[in-house]
Amino acid sequence: MAFKILLIHGPNLNLLGKREPKIYGTSGLDAINAQMKRIAEENETELRVFQSNSEGALIDAIHEAGDWADGIVINPGAYGHYSYAIRDALSAVNLPTIEVHISNVFAREEFRYKSVIAAVVIGCITGLGWRSYACGLQSLIAVLQERVNQT
Ligand code: DQA
Repeated sequence: MAFKILLIHGPNLNLLGKREPKIYGTSGLDAINAQMKRIAEENETELRVFQSNSEGALIDAIHEAGDWADGIVINPGAYGHYSYAIRDALSAVNLPTIEVHISNVFAREEFRYKSVIAAVVIGCITGLGWRSYACGLQSLIAVLQERVNQT
């Protein structure tokens, strides 16, 4: 396997497909994960997936990723707007990370305009529906590959 990546889904994303489909689309979390696994396989990458509605469990998963993963793709859900603890966890493990959001957070309520994790990630993809995850994963694999090529 070329790389090992952790895909993290934060709170309420277990309800994808049923939750506000006009905003988040009709794809369920299982379908998105299956699609991401396909992309990972095509790129000889191992993808582990974790979803939790709890901040502490998300932080524990980030800490553990520090021991095995080459990078993280994270949809932090609403925590992205205010969780300094998740930001600190990402800083602590210092893995290349891409933040993704299904909806265009800048076209919604003002509290969604701010991401407190944006400063500790490589980049953020927002508003492309389930494709935000695909772009995030493909981009992370490309970044990891580039880093290998440079060494
Ligand atoms: C979200 C955007 C957040 O503002 C929201 O709280 C979510 C989902 C998205 O994927 O569009 O739970 O992260």
